[in-house]
Amino acid sequence: MLRTLLFAGFAAIFLLLLLPTTCKAKLNLHRCHSSCGNIPDISYPFRLKDDRRRCGDRKYELACENNRTILQLYSGRYYVEEINYNRETIRVVDTGLKKDDCSSLPLHSLTDANFSYGDPYRLSYKTSDVNFVDCEAPINSSLYIDMAPCSRNSSSNSSLSSMQTYSYVVVRHMALSDLEDSCSVGLVVGFSTTGQEIDNSLPDIHNRLLYGTDLKWFNCFGFLCTSCDTLYFPHSVLAVAAKIFFGVPCVLIFLIYKWKRRSLSMYCAIEEFIQTHNNLKPIRYSYSNIKKMTKGFTEKLGEGGYGSVYKGKLKSGHLVAVKMLANSKANGQDFINEVATIGRIHHFNVVQLIGFCVEGSKQALVYDFMPNGSLDKYIFPEKEEYISLSFEKMYQISLGVAHGIEYLHLGCDMQILHFDIKPHNILLDKNFTPKVSDFGLAKSYPADHSIVSLTGARGTRGYMAPELFYKNIGGVSYKADVFSFGMLLMEMAGRRRNLNVFAEHSSQIYFPSWAYDQFNEGKDIEIGDATEEEQKLAKKMVLIALWCIQFKPSERPSMHKVIEMLEGKVDQLQMPPKPFLTPQEV
Ligand SMILES: *[C@@H]1O[C@H](CO)[C@@H](O)[C@H](O)[C@H]1NC(C)=O
Ligand SMILES: *[C@@H]1O[C@H](CO)[C@@H](O)[C@H](O)[C@H]1NC(C)=O
Ligand SMILES: *[C@@H]1O[C@H](CO)[C@@H](O)[C@H](O)[C@H]1NC(C)=O
Ligand SMILES: *[C@@H]1O[C@H](CO)[C@@H](O)[C@H](O)[C@H]1NC(C)=O
Ligand SMILES: *[C@@H]1O[C@H](CO)[C@@H](O)[C@H](O)[C@H]1NC(C)=O
Repeated sequence: MLRTLLFAGFAAIFLLLLLPTTCKAKLNLHRCHSSCGNIPDISYPFRLKDDRRRCGDRKYELACENNRTILQLYSGRYYVEEINYNRETIRVVDTGLKKDDCSSLPLHSLTDANFSYGDPYRLSYKTSDVNFVDCEAPINSSLYIDMAPCSRNSSSNSSLSSMQTYSYVVVRHMALSDLEDSCSVGLVVGFSTTGQEIDNSLPDIHNRLLYGTDLKWFNCFGFLCTSCDTLYFPHSVLAVAAKIFFGVPCVLIFLIYKWKRRSLSMYCAIEEFIQTHNNLKPIRYSYSNIKKMTKGFTEKLGEGGYGSVYKGKLKSGHLVAVKMLANSKANGQDFINEVATIGRIHHFNVVQLIGFCVEGSKQALVYDFMPNGSLDKYIFPEKEEYISLSFEKMYQISLGVAHGIEYLHLGCDMQILHFDIKPHNILLDKNFTPKVSDFGLAKSYPADHSIVSLTGARGTRGYMAPELFYKNIGGVSYKADVFSFGMLLMEMAGRRRNLNVFAEHSSQIYFPSWAYDQFNEGKDIEIGDATEEEQKLAKKMVLIALWCIQFKPSERPSMHKVIEMLEGKVDQLQMPPKPFLTPQEV
């Protein structure tokens, strides 16, 4: 037993010595750019079939045939029209569709249902489907758009026109009640309506299909070589020497501890973690580096149970927030949680971890600096200096937060549950783009685990899902984050009224149940100086929040659904069941 462990330890040290060089070698090969037809830049994570072995990621392989870029997706073949590396989307068009021939149809359905956990792509946030419907009798309904003008003129008789059926297209998420008796749905193609409304004419629908469907890909730092340039041994020999100097005793202590079945010291646990997770993207800084970038910890930004946050500046001039973790936490678990979760992901609405520092008991995390602070200051403004955000802005922020959480839930090969969504943990950059932060309580799980096991309650009162403290409600899952998001959304929508509501009524009134009762009685919640549009936005947010804070996890929507609802129209929202939610009831 001990011998195996010792051997593993020495193998690890050997690997560590080897790493920086092999990595550099791979890195150069890894940076390749190809092109094909109308796609001028095919680069990471994409690769072409004939690219060198180290290029891109095999999960994102494209083909170049007759000067067209082709994506094979499940059983379908798609032309690639555009790759947007900023938004991380790839726009594809079914190869069955022909320009100037509106009788040409997609060859395959493509909807949410085709994608599952762990797949390299999913449909971007769509707001509509194009349904191809075949009916035995003519249908007289404004929903059903007759395909006849298109099918008749086709040079070859398509299956649709050769059979004695009537063909229609219906553009919407079709409900069962939308389907006429004699009809059946053939193909369904989901597409992202990026701003423009469809005018429901046949040529317009065809053009929309020809424009294509946006697929989102996931940027996970799953491979050593995606992160080589920022691997945590920047200072060559000295760093390696230091590594061995500290590393060997540490590994030995670790082995002896393990052997004696004792718990690890915090330092060793972290070292162990870092050494076994060599795919980390963030940079490792020395403590003296940290001191330099914060100018000796002069400007404090905040303080909490976790420790203190200081403002800092990198050599490049980039502003950062440096979180010094209080070293009392058991085994450095907070530190490991943060680095393990956000250290390997990248999303517009998740705070970016730039680097970290571990030296003995000193642990620091280095993030992008967020000049506008945290959301709580805008929801519950205490000081005059905080500008009040418009309803539209609040709505945009809530949508951003939803995207961030959805990414955590679906984004990578691991599902990340945050367990502490609250206004305090939503940071705002200079454009008020929200970033989900503070992953101290987060856990990651293999994506196929729907119910997770937890030790100890986690979260913040007022935002914590009931299943986290009541055992008999059901298992803990991503729906716990949905609940917290619901509470957050409720506060965002209700922030202006909170005071008024509490002034008019007694302070005992719990806003969510008050709002529910208002809606249930067919009344709207009134907002003093809000325009009609703002009233609608607020109503939408509160209704969705009520769905999210349902007592039973199974009744709550997924974050994907939440985004769909947020982006949809308020009249399409159904009234949720009464959430079991007053503090007295709990
Ligand atoms: C390939 O496509 C590009 C852009 O569509 C075009 O400029 C180029 O001439 C094409 N090459 C060939 C060989 O067809
Ligand atoms: C998507 O799923 C449907 C139904 O299972 C299937 O018919 C279709 O071929 C799938 N699409 C692709 C591109 O594989
Ligand atoms: C279709 O329905 C509308 C009203 O529902 C009616 O005015 C019209 O005559 C109908 N057309 C046909 C062809 O049945
Ligand atoms: C189909 O042909 C008819 C006349 O034969 C013509 O009026 C109509 O515009 C054509 N439709 C399309 C989509 O080309
Ligand atoms: C298409 O079908 C119609 C009848 O369904 C037939 O009259 C016509 O000749 C066919 N056209 C072709 C090109 O096969």
